[in-house]
Amino acid sequence: MCGIIGYIGRDDAVDLVVEGLRHLEYRGYDSAGVAFPTDSGIEVRRCKGKIKDLEAIVYVDKPVANVAIGHTRWATHGVPSEYNAHPHSSDNIVLVHNGIIENYLDLKKELIERGYRFTSETDTEVLCHLIDRYSRDYTFEEAVMMALKDVRGAYAILVLSARDPQKIIGVRKDSPLVLGIGEGEFFLASDVPAFHARTGRVIFLENNDMVILSPEGYKLMDLNGNSIEREIEFIPPMAAGADKGGYKHYMLKEIHEQPRALSDTLRGRIFPERGEVNLSEFGLDEGMLRGVDRIFIGACGTSWHAALAGKYMIEQIARVPVEVDLASEFRYRRPLIGDKDLFIAITQSGETADTLAAQREAKRRGALTLSICNALGATSAREADAVFYTHSGPEIGVASTKAFTSQLFSLYLFSLIMARIGGRLEEQDAVAMIAELLRVPDKIEKIISNEDAIVAVAKELFKAKDFLYLGRGILHPIALEGALKLKEISYIHAEGYPAGEMKHGPIALIDEDVPVVFLVQRGVLKEKVLSNISEVKARGGKAVVVMSDSLLGEVRQADYTIGIPETNPYLEAVLMAVPLQLLAYHIGVLRGCDVDQPRNLAKSVTVE
Ligand code: F6R
Repeated sequence: MCGIIGYIGRDDAVDLVVEGLRHLEYRGYDSAGVAFPTDSGIEVRRCKGKIKDLEAIVYVDKPVANVAIGHTRWATHGVPSEYNAHPHSSDNIVLVHNGIIENYLDLKKELIERGYRFTSETDTEVLCHLIDRYSRDYTFEEAVMMALKDVRGAYAILVLSARDPQKIIGVRKDSPLVLGIGEGEFFLASDVPAFHARTGRVIFLENNDMVILSPEGYKLMDLNGNSIEREIEFIPPMAAGADKGGYKHYMLKEIHEQPRALSDTLRGRIFPERGEVNLSEFGLDEGMLRGVDRIFIGACGTSWHAALAGKYMIEQIARVPVEVDLASEFRYRRPLIGDKDLFIAITQSGETADTLAAQREAKRRGALTLSICNALGATSAREADAVFYTHSGPEIGVASTKAFTSQLFSLYLFSLIMARIGGRLEEQDAVAMIAELLRVPDKIEKIISNEDAIVAVAKELFKAKDFLYLGRGILHPIALEGALKLKEISYIHAEGYPAGEMKHGPIALIDEDVPVVFLVQRGVLKEKVLSNISEVKARGGKAVVVMSDSLLGEVRQADYTIGIPETNPYLEAVLMAVPLQLLAYHIGVLRGCDVDQPRNLAKSVTVE
């Protein structure tokens, strides 16, 4: 979703801002722009398209400036176009904005009556004119504060004023904004990777924080003008940025990185000989968890699939009841959650607006909140009572891959904790479960080493228009995830279903053009899923079967088989996700899709 960056310092501000925007590309966008002061006012250059299109118009007569702001826009109000792209300008004011101004229509009416002329369809332009209106009678800082008092909604903004061109004002409310503090230079951006090559010293701004940057330094205040202090944190070099490391796409790199990422999720968190998990890594203690009657998990998209698998793990391993909610629905259903309950937010970015709203609702109703989060310092992590970082490293590809498997690992660890606390797991069983966890990275290596076989299946199927993914038990959420990955990356329509539901409707779709991916697990349900395969074959469908290598011999009618190493049923969910990620990736590539930045998608969905 929109990315913003601002720079003040001794170096070439426009260069650094364009470079920063490139590091924010992963968030997904459709247009981009920059603004910088010149002798005759503030100049804006913006366009529809990608950073390379912006470069073409920025570098024709290369501007020299030591102050600049920039933006990548993900359209909400108004089509992707030059006139809707940010920065927006009014008479004196130029700004970039990430978020949504909810009451923009009312404000727009008032501003039009005052003579302001609108040139875009965006909500942002309203804010720009509003600040300009106040700036006629007040200082730059006061004008920003007063305008924001009139506004309802979510925002991270960076504002420039033609009257005060050596300043950038940044404010955040419900949209991330982080201050980077370098040697004689300062950055404000939506995310650390935007400037991490220059500095790792950061302040994560909180809601209603305002920061005033000038070449001399930064000042922090609240929206009433009172000075405030915030802690400076250090983000180590490896944790913030990433490059493709020789891979064709970030997504492929991140799939391949999973053995390392999962080992990082475990580092310092387990005591294998005792079968114990380091509870303090969750920021919790036994006392807090002993009183927990029920667990609610809220998440969106891929993280919601992890939550569904987590329910299965926690209920099976620890026998504690779990409810899983799509975060976007949670607060609207007046959830029956209270002070004996634990709410777990699962979120890679820690900035997903719906997940944050669900987490806040749970907290408001008295629940203990735990954030399972990947991005260091993200809002979800900071607002929760406790946080467990998945530590899978920055995920740049828009489609989530390694973050998903590390969420599954985290939930497995959490299940073990709850089981030990509840006396549901003997020490030797816990030792065995952790020993198996430690074998998973190698098993994923093995799956990845068989990538050519998956490429071969992708080559056969990439022209299909529809796919079904079927699984049972814990493999149902993995089927949902397989379908989501395929549709995001390749734009092929794909649906995931519990295999037992096929006969209640989806079977009507089956013909020779619809591949069906079956995820099959050992146990009581195996025979039933094998029968579903026969049902598909009897209707001319194509069956792709993913299951343990040792069981493949039992499959009678598959068109294609993909084997995975043996493990326990919970961790099979983790292993099974990997070939599905690779299948989606290779199908997307064969169809010529932009797999790292699929159309219409944003990495971090900061609007509701
Ligand atoms: C899918 C994907 C999205 C995210 C969802 C939640 O590949 O990436 O579905 O999983 O937007 O994002 P987080 O986990 O950042 O809250």
